[in-house]
Amino acid sequence: MTRSFKTLDDIGEVHGKRVLVREDMNVPMAEGRPTDDTRLRATLPTVTELADRGAIVLILAHFGRPKVPTPDLSTALLTKPYEQVLGRPVRYIDWEGDAANVATLQPGDIALLENTRFFGGEERNDPATVARFAALGELYVNDAFSAAHRAHASTEGLAHVLPAFAGRQMEAELDALDKALGNPEHPVAAVVGGAKVSTKLDVLQHLVARVDHLIIGGGMANTFLAARGVNVGQSLCEHDLAGTAEAILAAADRAGCTVHLPYDVVVATEFRANPATRTVNVHEVAADEMILDIGPAATEALGDVLKNCRTLVWNGPLGAFETPPFDTATVALARTAAALTQDGSLVSVAGGGDTVAALNQAGVADSFSFVSTAGGAFLEWMEGKDLPGVAALTR
Ligand code: 3PG
Repeated sequence: MTRSFKTLDDIGEVHGKRVLVREDMNVPMAEGRPTDDTRLRATLPTVTELADRGAIVLILAHFGRPKVPTPDLSTALLTKPYEQVLGRPVRYIDWEGDAANVATLQPGDIALLENTRFFGGEERNDPATVARFAALGELYVNDAFSAAHRAHASTEGLAHVLPAFAGRQMEAELDALDKALGNPEHPVAAVVGGAKVSTKLDVLQHLVARVDHLIIGGGMANTFLAARGVNVGQSLCEHDLAGTAEAILAAADRAGCTVHLPYDVVVATEFRANPATRTVNVHEVAADEMILDIGPAATEALGDVLKNCRTLVWNGPLGAFETPPFDTATVALARTAAALTQDGSLVSVAGGGDTVAALNQAGVADSFSFVSTAGGAFLEWMEGKDLPGVAALTR
């Protein structure tokens, strides 16, 4: 495969070389411990490969959004959990005397440097901060796709001043995304769900010109239904975006993209776990009811759409999936997609915080072709935007 970026296959001899590896270790925490170590695990291929090849591995990562250095957001808190995931010792190095500490490391050693955002210049991509980081290493590996939508010193600036390579996670992510939307096998389906159209306008506008089937779910679907004259009762709905929804539907029509809106839905008069529900045609929603999930007939029809597709890209749940039973459609369609993927008839790529949680809930995250660990970066990629961290690698 010809790629527009260099990978660890192109990096050459790294034995004894100091390699700055940008990872995304921005994990959710509770009581001082990560509650989900997916992002830590995702670093393993790159970090272990480089250490096994004798590199001195210097991990750069941001953690939270500190405005000033704060102990709660020190990467020191991640060192022990990371050692457990990695199964090797990890040396934590803070920004006091870091150069001297780095100088004591041996080939194969792995160090986690302090939060990059403890420098104000990180987020400003300040050349002085870039130089400060660059002085520690000889080579730069960016393995943090999920932070690549940020043009920061450690995600973008470093690629201009050191020989730059994509890590294994970044490489896998870019290859999967290319298969899903760059050069996909058609027909392509996109599932776009979530609460609000307003947060995904750019995604929808970008997708209608690229996919054959656009499946809209979640609260967003209500805005489209209302724009088409459906009375959605008390449902979450951005009535002021009716014109925008109409414009997206018209653009889809011109591009030959079929938009799938639910025709049966699950409704309730209160939003809580396991309330009394009705499954009704979208035209039968009562004034005091709200739509909380796609109905079984629509879900089955969407499964049939996927059976005729070769590629699927998925972002956002179809219903209020965190509250049972409104996860039913999301779980069912995710299982269909997983089964088709396992049969070899579908390439399935999913991403975004809620999406990964929903796929985990359906127990199918491992059965998709690729599940991205990225939130904001995945969305910006679905909007067709150039991600600065990726662009800097592909110059
Ligand atoms: C994320 O959590 O999506 C990434 O780590 C980026 O974090 P940020 O939104 O704080 O830049």
